[in-house]
Amino acid sequence: MSVEQAHRRGFAPGQILFGGDWSPEQWDRATWEEDLALMQEARVNTVTLGVFSWSALEPTEGAFVTDWLDEILERLADAGIGFFLATPTASPPPWFTRAHPDALPVRPDGVRLTHGSRDTYAISAPAYREAARRITRRLADRYGHHPGLRGWHLHNEYGTLDHGPHAEHAFQAWLEDRYGTIEALNAAWCTAFWSQGYASFEEITPPRTTQYLPNPSQAIDFRRFSSDEMLAAMVEQREEIRAAGSTAPVTTNFMLPTWNHLEQWSWAEREDVVSLDHYLDTAGPDAEAHVAYGSDLARSWSGGPWVLMEQNATGIRVDGRTLAKGADRMIRHSLGYIARGSQSSLFFQWRQSAGGAEQWHGALVPHAGGRSRVFASIARLGGILERLAPVAALPADGPLVRAEVGILWHADGWWALETPDLPSSHLTYSAEVRATHRSFWRAGIPVDFVRPLADLSAHRLLVVPAQYPLSDDQVSWFEEYVEGGGELVVTYLSGLADEHLRIATGGYPGRLRRLLGVRGQELLPLPAGERVALSDGSEVEGWTELLGVEDAEVLARYTHGDLAGLPAVTRARRGEGRAVYVSAGWTQEARDRRLAEIAAELGIGPTLPGAAEAGLEAVRRRGDGMDFLFLLHHGERPLTVRAVGDDLITGASARDGLRLAQGGAAVLTLAPDAPVELVED
Ligand code: GLA
Repeated sequence: MSVEQAHRRGFAPGQILFGGDWSPEQWDRATWEEDLALMQEARVNTVTLGVFSWSALEPTEGAFVTDWLDEILERLADAGIGFFLATPTASPPPWFTRAHPDALPVRPDGVRLTHGSRDTYAISAPAYREAARRITRRLADRYGHHPGLRGWHLHNEYGTLDHGPHAEHAFQAWLEDRYGTIEALNAAWCTAFWSQGYASFEEITPPRTTQYLPNPSQAIDFRRFSSDEMLAAMVEQREEIRAAGSTAPVTTNFMLPTWNHLEQWSWAEREDVVSLDHYLDTAGPDAEAHVAYGSDLARSWSGGPWVLMEQNATGIRVDGRTLAKGADRMIRHSLGYIARGSQSSLFFQWRQSAGGAEQWHGALVPHAGGRSRVFASIARLGGILERLAPVAALPADGPLVRAEVGILWHADGWWALETPDLPSSHLTYSAEVRATHRSFWRAGIPVDFVRPLADLSAHRLLVVPAQYPLSDDQVSWFEEYVEGGGELVVTYLSGLADEHLRIATGGYPGRLRRLLGVRGQELLPLPAGERVALSDGSEVEGWTELLGVEDAEVLARYTHGDLAGLPAVTRARRGEGRAVYVSAGWTQEARDRRLAEIAAELGIGPTLPGAAEAGLEAVRRRGDGMDFLFLLHHGERPLTVRAVGDDLITGASARDGLRLAQGGAAVLTLAPDAPVELVED
C-alpha cells in the first residue's frame, strides 16, 4: 500500500461529519449569526467553505481579501465546527477572464464560452493554471495549519472539456508521450480510413465539430487526455498545499451520475480521501439502489472510507420537476451512504440562496428559514448522526464492507460507448453497470467495484458489464482469474475492441473469444420494445448476437424468432474456474434472477436472508472490533430483526427482536460476524 493509500484508509475524523456548503459571502452578518445558531441547534460539525469564492477572495488581480474568511473561521471555531476549505478555482472571476480570454474553454464547434456562469476555464491555459496555483498557495499559507481544517476540497467537480488551442498543444504532447512515433499513432487510430494519415503530431487537433463522424480512437484518447490534464491541474494544487506545509487531507469531489469526464481510479491515487457528490435521478424505488451504487463506487475508488461531500436534502430533480424526497427517506439515504463507508453526511447547501442560478436548489435551511419542516428533519438527522460517532472508527485491517462480488468499472467503457454509430446508439455504460449493480442490491448481496488488473483474491465472482475496449493485459488478467478458480460473467458489448477501439476480428467478442469459448458472427440489436424468450425462462431485450459455441456449454438458447435454437448464454470451464458469456440484453428481471442464481451456486448470499425481498436493506459495516448492521426499511410492512446487539440510534436491544416500522432505520452494534435473523411475524 502506498503512503497515500495509507492516508486515505486512515480518514477517521472520530465522528460522522455533518453539514454542508456554506456561502457566508452571500449573506449579511445578521444571517451569519442566525446560521451559526442553527448549525449548533442541528449539531452541524462541518461546513465546506470557499467553493466558488474566488471573486470574494481576490476581487482584483493579486489583491487578496481574507478578513471575512478569517472572521468566519473564528466564529466556526467558537462554535466547535470544523471545515473543508475549497480552492475556488472552478470559477475564475471576471477580471481573470477579461485579462486572459484565451483561458476560456472552447467547445467542439469552435465557440469560445463567455463568462457568466461557472466552470468556464480552459484547463490547459497557462494563465489559468498559474492563477489557480497562486490562489491555492495563498489559501494554504494562510489557513493550512488551522486547527479546524478537516481537509482541502480542491476545485469543484473537475469536468470542463476544452477543445481550444491550449488543449490542442497539450493533447499533441500527451499523444507523443503515449505513442512515441506518429506511425504508431496512425496504426492505433486506423487513420488509413478516410485519408486521415498524420505526418506529425502537430497536425492533430482535439476532436472538433467536423463534417461527419469523428475518428473514435481520437475521441477516446481525447477523453483520456482531458482526464489526465485535469488531474495534473489538481496535483499542482496539492503540491502548493504541501509546499505550504499543510498536511491536511486532500480531496476533490467526484460527480455522479449524469456525466463522467474523469478516470476515477487514477485520481483516487492522488487524493488522501475520495469524496463524492451524489444527486439522484429518480424519485421511484430505484433511488435507494442508486444511493447504494454511488456509495459502492466511492468506497471502491477509495479502497476505504470516503466522504459524501454533497447531496440534496429535499428534492430529486426528475424531468424538469423537483420532487420531494421526504424526511424519512432523506435520513435513510444519509445512513445508506454511511453504511457503505462514508464518514459524512454533507449537503449542498447549508442555506438556500436568495439569488443566483441555484436559488431553487434544496438546502438545510430553506427560504422559509429555521422554523420549517425541512430544518426540523435536518436537526433530527443531526441527532442521529451524533449517536453514530462509533461507526467512524475503522477496522484494524480488512475492508469496511466485505464483498465477494466484484463489478468491473472503468471510464474507458463509458467513453467507448459514447462513440457515434455503434450497432445500437441506445446503450450506455452507466445503464449497463447500474443494472448489474441493481441486481445484487435487490438480492441484498454486497459488492465492490474493481479496477482493471486489481487483486481479485477477495472476489469469487467478477461481473464485467459492457467493457467494450480491453487491452492485452486486461484479457490476461481475466484469464488468470478464471484459471485460478474465479467465476467470471461477461456481458455483451465487452471485449469487442482493443484499447484503441480497433475491432478484434475473426468473431465476436474478439478479445475474449478464447476465454469464453464462443464465436459470434453478427451483432443484432433488437427493435425498441421487442423481447425474446430464452430456454431458461428469462427474456432479453435491446441486443442479441448470432453466436456459435466452440468450447463452452450452453446455459440458455433462444426459443423462437430468427435465432431459435441458437445459444444466448454460455459457460466455459477453464482451469479451476468458469467464464459465463451473456451475449444478449437480459431484462432487469432476468438479470436479477440469473445473477442471484450464479451467486447462490457459489455460496454467496445476502447479508440478511429474506430482508431485501421485504424491502429491508441490510448492510454490515466493519468497525474497530465490532460490526455495525445498518437496517434501512424501504418496504411497507413492519419487520422484526433479532441479534445480540443494540440500536445505536435508540439504544433499544435487538436481543428479543427489534421492530422496524415502515420508513424506519436502525444501526445495530454487533460482535464481529455475529449472527442476525429476520423474524417472521
Ligand atoms: C453540484 C455542485 C454544486 C451545485 C450542485 C447542485 O454538485 O458541486 O455547486 O451546483 O451540483 O445540485
